[in-house]
Amino acid sequence: MNSDSNASRKTPRRTFSEIVQSALGRRDFLQASLSGACGALLVGTLGDRVSATTQTSSRFGFANVPVSASNTVVVPEGYVAEVLYRWGDPINGLGPLFSADASNTAAEQQLQAGMGHDGMEYFAIPGVDPNERGLLAVNHEYTDQVLLFSDGLAPLPPAAIPLEKVRKSQYAHGVSIVEIARDANRAWRVVESDRARRITACTPMRIAGPAVSRVGTTVAGTVNNCAAGRTPWGTYLTCEENFNGVFGTTQNHFVLNDHLRRYGFSKRGYTYPMDGTDVPAFRWYECDQRFDLADPNNDADRFGYVVEVDPLDPNSIPVKRTALGRFKHENAALVLSRDGRVVVYMGDDERNEYIYKYISADRYQPDKNPGGDYGRLLDEGTLYVAKFSDDGKGEWLALRAGENGIPKTSSNSHGLGVNDQPGFSDADIAVCTREAADRAGATPMDRPEWIAVHPDTKEVFVSLTNNSTRGDAHPTDAANPREKNIFGHILRWHEEHDDPAATQFQWRVFLLAGNPSHSSVTQQGNVAGDAFGCPDGLRFDSTGVLWIQTDMSAKYMGNSDFKELGNNMMLAADPESGEVRRFLTGPRGCEITGNAMTPDRCTLFVNIQHPGEPPDDTSDPRDPHQFSDWPDGGRGGRPRSATIVVRRTDGAPIGT
Ligand code: FEO
Ligand code: CA
Ligand code: CA
Ligand code: CA
Repeated sequence: MNSDSNASRKTPRRTFSEIVQSALGRRDFLQASLSGACGALLVGTLGDRVSATTQTSSRFGFANVPVSASNTVVVPEGYVAEVLYRWGDPINGLGPLFSADASNTAAEQQLQAGMGHDGMEYFAIPGVDPNERGLLAVNHEYTDQVLLFSDGLAPLPPAAIPLEKVRKSQYAHGVSIVEIARDANRAWRVVESDRARRITACTPMRIAGPAVSRVGTTVAGTVNNCAAGRTPWGTYLTCEENFNGVFGTTQNHFVLNDHLRRYGFSKRGYTYPMDGTDVPAFRWYECDQRFDLADPNNDADRFGYVVEVDPLDPNSIPVKRTALGRFKHENAALVLSRDGRVVVYMGDDERNEYIYKYISADRYQPDKNPGGDYGRLLDEGTLYVAKFSDDGKGEWLALRAGENGIPKTSSNSHGLGVNDQPGFSDADIAVCTREAADRAGATPMDRPEWIAVHPDTKEVFVSLTNNSTRGDAHPTDAANPREKNIFGHILRWHEEHDDPAATQFQWRVFLLAGNPSHSSVTQQGNVAGDAFGCPDGLRFDSTGVLWIQTDMSAKYMGNSDFKELGNNMMLAADPESGEVRRFLTGPRGCEITGNAMTPDRCTLFVNIQHPGEPPDDTSDPRDPHQFSDWPDGGRGGRPRSATIVVRRTDGAPIGT
């Protein structure tokens, strides 16, 4: 996936303990050893040390939940978990209601919750108590084409897919904005609202920033809306991740160029394995030409961005902010620099991809210019990519044509992906961001997922969820220390002078996730507390607790390496002590992703994505019911992604 320029930057091979010791730093290493946070070197004693730590100094006021293989959501004693908003639930009023056999039409789907709930944010409504009522913006990352339709993937190629099925799939992608409120029993409900809206793969959008000279100023839709973010001016940021999967072509002679291949496009897009062959999942390109890679004006370069949405204005046109780069965006963690510039941290979630940071040219100054057009702060600025050195130092490399090994186009025309010139224009950097970062010498990472910034210290944490290829094309390094990194890890860094706009930083390992029962010492991890694998969702609450959500693949959950870790989960971590405590476990086959809280922290919203996802090498994708019927259970429903509410029965804040 990465260019030769990356592959050639090899570092000498070192032992695992050397790498961990170097990464933590000598003083931190000793402290970590004493507190049980360096488990690979403390085999056999980790459990005792951790329980001693947690008993004496824990900041958490809940009892951990055990690992679970059950088909339900489990929360600590004294808490309840209630289903709020499932795939197919109407966004407004009484209908259209969900049909348990998935027979809802495309037109109905357009007025219902999409599939694959992922990142989300909660927004206050002016003049309304946000602890009682507000707006929830929820991403719908992808569609499970088997579950979405009564007849699943039928008709299989070579029979043509009907446009109605393509539209239903497109309408189940995107974003929901729903108004929610507490009822007389304190439970949260979706209520009727003029602000309720669905944004889909067909919603008109504006394109802004440097890419416009290459891709134009408009596009329909947003897809593969993974994680999210928010701005201080009250807008929602929804991030396009695996957009390559919905493109393809039926033109067998079509040859993908290097630019398309660098982003993982293929002729059939995402596929399902079936009867020993790969069946294309989406097939949008069969009847919607803009997803056909062979069409000269297809939309491939118009997806892969961070999209800004105003949740308060249902008529607002979402804007793709191309200055933030084009890659498989996970989330967008936005903070202000010391002088008020907007800084956005972003991960590119693919094996051996990079971590990025955007810094606006101008400052956010609401006092001087109340109600200004602050979205433009996301159009003019500089994109940087991270380089992690083995000595614990790091550097942000500017992605500017003519700097950091990035050649500039010799004319005003565009280079990469447009013609054979090797150079980059400003637009090329916004569209061919991966190729620019390759040339700059960024550090290939173990799949960067969410990034979270501590509310007080501004220290930054990133989930590196796993990397089965680490050690092959890309040797281990101090920031990605494990070969065949099955369980992932979390890094932390602080910027020079604790200023998010700095271009130098110092980093260390926060934790190595793992299975303490694993036969390989390096895969046991060093978590001080409850074990988990594959960190993904990360968010700090306002008190500085780091909430971690996991995405262990359904393919591996509960077997071999992952046997003792059970279903996916949500945990609370203390960034100071390193303690990790399991808070919630999900139903079978699901991922736990996306969370938000009300300002009083008494309500926690969590997304349960793809309950019942089958282990794909042992199951038949034509049978959607065999692994989970959550959340409808006995009512005969198929599994449905859903937003749930977690709250305490005594009404007190979460986690305390
Ligand atoms: Fe949509 Fe990388 O998770
Ligand atoms: Ca994720
Ligand atoms: Ca993931
Ligand atoms: Ca998932």
